[in-house]
Amino acid sequence: MKPDVLVLHPALPPQMAMLEQAYTLHRHDLADAAGQAAMLGQVGSLCLAAILTGSTVLDRQMLAQLPALQVVACGSAGYESVDTAALRERGITLTNASAALADDVADTALLLMLAARRGLIGGHAHVASGEWGRTGAFPLQSAVRGKRLGIVGMGTIGQAIIPRAQAVGLEIAYFSRTARPEVKLPFQRDLQALAHWADILIVIVAGGAGTRNLIDDPILRALGPQGTLVNISRGSVVQEPALIAALQDGGLGSAGLDVFWNEPDPDPVLVALPNVTLYPHHASGTVETRAAMAQTVVDNLAAHFAGRPVPNPVT
Ligand code: DGY
Repeated sequence: MKPDVLVLHPALPPQMAMLEQAYTLHRHDLADAAGQAAMLGQVGSLCLAAILTGSTVLDRQMLAQLPALQVVACGSAGYESVDTAALRERGITLTNASAALADDVADTALLLMLAARRGLIGGHAHVASGEWGRTGAFPLQSAVRGKRLGIVGMGTIGQAIIPRAQAVGLEIAYFSRTARPEVKLPFQRDLQALAHWADILIVIVAGGAGTRNLIDDPILRALGPQGTLVNISRGSVVQEPALIAALQDGGLGSAGLDVFWNEPDPDPVLVALPNVTLYPHHASGTVETRAAMAQTVVDNLAAHFAGRPVPNPVT
């Protein structure tokens, strides 16, 4: 008998084919609203597993219709639309894809940081527009080596940023919910103090209600006129009107952003600012990493149903 699995959001086609072999899949993702409600009523009580992505809603109301659920495999790092408290109450295992994407997302943090600090977008325009020939050299930028980096969030991806940041000569300290004994760097429990100390903040905390507007006006202004904010977590973590105001009035030097409010149509005022470098929520967007992320869904379900510890539990 194949276990029943509710597909709230699919994995990539090769991984869906693997899942199809091992499980009876119920394609909630392909049904319209009426079909989805009917499906939960008809097969919800059979489903032992669900697969989804970070933006897929799995709330208490839906969970009530999934009384046999044992495991939820999320194909992204973020799981901000999943009611994790409700899962914990019922002892349902949640897995995610942080381990699969950590290298690419950490690379993107460095990409955005260096681009913002060295004026890559402005430099490109200086060459492409012919401005270089007309007006001369591009203005001098600020070196990265010897500056101070605050990492906000010290999970799998935060830890993948450390060796990359050390390689370009940054001094590092970090903020997170609790100190990580395995991380041999200064822990700062006061986020504002970290922002005040740092020249650059890289934000890589989980999204959701607990971190909404964590990076607000006082934090941005503590980072200061020479400071750079890099956000590779979720747009919701940064209070965007405060960010725009600080970038406009010189309270903050620059920003490198992979994530925004109102994706995929961010505020045109933000987009038009000369001191922002933007990327389209694509930090994990490589062929290799997206395949590895999808494979975590297959591997975590396989481990669970074989009675082995899941490789990527959300703790
Ligand atoms: C993730 O995995 O959470 C990335 O942000 C892609 O959505």
